[in-house]
Amino acid sequence: MSSPTLGLVCAAAGGIEQVRERLIEPMLADGWSIAVTLTPTAATWLAATDEIAKIEAATGFPVRSTPRLPDEASPHPTVDCYAAVPATANLVAKLALGIADNQALTQLCEAIGGRRPPVIVFPRVNAAHAAQPAWDHHLDALRSSGVGLVYGEQVWPLHSPRSAPGKELPWAAIREAIESSIAWR
Ligand SMILES: Cc1cc2nc3c(=O)[nH]c(=O)nc-3n(C[C@H](O)[C@H](O)[C@H](O)COP(=O)(O)O)c2cc1C
Repeated sequence: MSSPTLGLVCAAAGGIEQVRERLIEPMLADGWSIAVTLTPTAATWLAATDEIAKIEAATGFPVRSTPRLPDEASPHPTVDCYAAVPATANLVAKLALGIADNQALTQLCEAIGGRRPPVIVFPRVNAAHAAQPAWDHHLDALRSSGVGLVYGEQVWPLHSPRSAPGKELPWAAIREAIESSIAWR
């Protein structure tokens, strides 16, 4: 594979403001193409800081957050891997249940159901999210469907709600999971 393409989905969680500088631009520099899709709430966040325009300028693709019209072609290329970074507790729960009520979830649900391309998820959650009674079932459902989770004490120790503003996402572990999911290099 000469130049792999990542379908990057970002949800409205901490760390999204760093995704361009810490994940997108380094991966582009290493030869990846990246097509970004945002959840509707993430789109309002990144529009407010002009990040959408910066991501589009960097990647060369429009940032998607709404579905195409039935007679429109997709503005994004076929991807070799999807990654949801950061994923909210909300996105993880919906994904585990197969809820596809926005463009970001539609892409991920289809990939998981079809078992390709590979899907990596980094749940950017706190201890309260993880104590929600259905949380472990959601993670089990995703794992058993082949989703690669970047999750656990070693990569993301759980913090109390609102106690970790600015906490750095585990960028190296996220990249490693993405790159390991495809046969490249
Ligand atoms: C400032 C702020 C930070 C947030 N950070 C997180 C977070 O790190 N993880 C999370 O799961 N939810 C977080 N939330 C809550 C989500 O944004 C909220 O559940 C939203 O509905 C998620 O929508 P989405 O999953 O469609 O992106 C945060 C909300 C706000 C206002």
